[in-house]
Amino acid sequence: MKVFGRKKGRKISSKKIKLINNFLPKISLDDKIIFNQILSSEKQKFLEVGFGHGENLIKLSQDRPDWVFLGVEYFINGVASILDKIYSEKINNIYILLGDGREFLKKLPKNSISESCILFPDPWHKSRHSERRIVQQNFINNLSKVMRKNSKLHISSDDPVAQAWILKCFIFNENYEWNIKSVNECFCKPLIFEETKYMRKSILENRNSMWFEFKNIKES
Ligand SMILES: C[S@@+](CC[C@H](N)C(=O)[O-])C[C@H]1O[C@@H](n2cnc3c(N)ncnc32)[C@H](O)[C@@H]1O
Repeated sequence: MKVFGRKKGRKISSKKIKLINNFLPKISLDDKIIFNQILSSEKQKFLEVGFGHGENLIKLSQDRPDWVFLGVEYFINGVASILDKIYSEKINNIYILLGDGREFLKKLPKNSISESCILFPDPWHKSRHSERRIVQQNFINNLSKVMRKNSKLHISSDDPVAQAWILKCFIFNENYEWNIKSVNECFCKPLIFEETKYMRKSILENRNSMWFEFKNIKES
């Protein structure tokens, strides 16, 4: 599967390189033993695909100490940032995969995820790049299989083309129902989430973010 966009950005500090080499293997979902241990636990599991620098996983893991958090990100600088926070704050309920969320979904057992989010997925707003968008029927069908029945999926975007694309994909997919109480609500960040670095930039550049919540109504 092709990876589009950046996999690596600014130079990573030697402290963070050490964390990638020595600490990541201890919480990596790439490790079969860790993966099986986490997935067989009774605890509720939250999945975030494309967590960026990980601000939301950190907040959620602190707000919900009884849950387990699974984060997938293929941007190594983002993984380095979250490792730094997990390590320094001694957080013990976040597990990370440095890799592709689309491939990771195929490895997860059915009905294993209690809630999930994809926040500000790369918009790829030009129509000739539409196949690069992470939200595609195949992807959301795979997501539906791993999510429990009636579990919630949160998606946000600050790009009008991506907002319309996301809505269209989910409205036409019979596995999901759109949980919407009012249109105004779609323009407010749910309280469970943080203002991330990406979101702050988007506010500064006067982009209007939309937040969608979909319910997985299909039993796998
Ligand atoms: C625009 S950023 C948003 C980051 C973060 N969710 C936030 O709200 O601040 C999108 C992120 O998704 C990641 N991403 C895109 N496609 C991905 C994929 N297939 N698997 C894992 N990460 C992905 C990118 O590397 C990038 O860090």
